[in-house]
Amino acid sequence: MKVDVILGLQWGDEGKGKLVDVVCPTYPIIARFQGGPNAGHSLVIHGKKMVLNTIPSGIFRDGSTNVAGSGMVLNPVGLLREIKMLEANGVPVKDRLVLSRRAHLILPTHPLLDAAMEQAKGDEKIGSTLKGIGPAYSDKTARQGIRLGDLDNGRFDANFREQIARHTDELNRHGSDLSELNALCDEWKKSLDEIAAYQRADTEFFLNKALDRGEPILAEGAQGTLLDLEFGSYPFVTSSHTTVAGVCSGLGVAPQRVGKVMGIFKAYCTRVGSGPFPTELNNETGDFLRQTGHEFGATTGRPRRCGWIDLPALRYAIMLNGVTDLIMTKADVLSGLPEIGVCTHYRTANGRTPYFPSDLDGVEPVIKMIPGWNQSLTESTSEDALPAQLLRYIDLLEDELDRPIRIVSVGPDRRQTIHRR
Ligand code: GDP
Ligand code: IMO
Ligand code: MG
Repeated sequence: MKVDVILGLQWGDEGKGKLVDVVCPTYPIIARFQGGPNAGHSLVIHGKKMVLNTIPSGIFRDGSTNVAGSGMVLNPVGLLREIKMLEANGVPVKDRLVLSRRAHLILPTHPLLDAAMEQAKGDEKIGSTLKGIGPAYSDKTARQGIRLGDLDNGRFDANFREQIARHTDELNRHGSDLSELNALCDEWKKSLDEIAAYQRADTEFFLNKALDRGEPILAEGAQGTLLDLEFGSYPFVTSSHTTVAGVCSGLGVAPQRVGKVMGIFKAYCTRVGSGPFPTELNNETGDFLRQTGHEFGATTGRPRRCGWIDLPALRYAIMLNGVTDLIMTKADVLSGLPEIGVCTHYRTANGRTPYFPSDLDGVEPVIKMIPGWNQSLTESTSEDALPAQLLRYIDLLEDELDRPIRIVSVGPDRRQTIHRR
């Protein structure tokens, strides 16, 4: 059996949460492989919107096992809040969630360091979610992080005190306000004590054994390819591996065990936080996309920057991930626009290119305008009901991207999903 993957091809928020929820009934196991509570994955369950930050989006399905993999970083405080929210909604989290012993912990000082570092950067700030992601992964890479599994050894408390002392020195150098630190540490430890009652395991063995038994796994990406530490719009990226490579390193599965790679993209493009965005629309059309698409961050509430679809970026993301199937979301948001822009190429100092370069400075989008449609899509349940202009848009994208668009999503609800032949 294989690990199939759903991951974002743009700058995050492509609708991964909704699509994992739609696709997961055929997968007994759903696993997050990277990132942490910087993610905000929205699902609509029986008409109610739910946002997950750390827990995989399969958690609502009966009989599912949801794994927070070793490539993730976990904050016990937020994780416990998320668990309580789910339990209040009747989800038996204790039965369905397994946490990797190798996952690193976001300490109470990591978000403070994140904020201090962003402030020090001034105008150059990344626009981080301030969840402590960068500092937690930095400590992991510097081989001084604390893992969830360290709870099971005798060094946990000493390590915690040592790390907090080191971070405190650094925060003092930044002039940070530390008056709440003791209270934050107390809350963090209390939350961790409660988290300790949930299942934790060496999930690399759990997952490989499940594959050996013939159980397929769905890996759920967070963020998007263009935020990847290695291949994203560096330095305006996150600190983890958001591409398919992250599935292997973050779950402990070998590359030949990866099956379908479902690449998800919006019918337009958004970005939250700083950094280059060649097709950004700082005009009424951008405002239209933001209002109609409710483009405000699921985690931070920040307005998302909006623009036209970017084919050089999508071609690049498809190449990096070996995408086999495409999923297009939010096609409904484009209804009512007389024309839709498609960025087919970039104009750079070295001429026109169909590819996404390692440096986006000075890159200009080459935009082709195509006819839009007026018809609302949100009640459409089959491809036959879609307007001819949208079908032409889909044809154009499949042609340019050389991959089939298997699913078109036309609203946030599970039912607003069109599976294509
Ligand atoms: P994720 O981070 O990739 O899971 O995406 P987010 O949940 O952050 O953002 C996607 C937003 O779009 C959420 O509010 C979803 O409920 C919503 N959404 C998902 N698919 C569709 C769609 O096809 N149409 C519309 N209008 N909204 C959608
Ligand atoms: P999901 O999984 C969109 C962005 C932040 C910032 C940069 C670095 O919901 O798609 P970080 O907190 O990771 O250090 O921030 O990455 N970012 C996201 N943007 N969706 C996300 O997650 C994001 N997670 C991080 O806005 O620009
Ligand atoms: Mg999101």
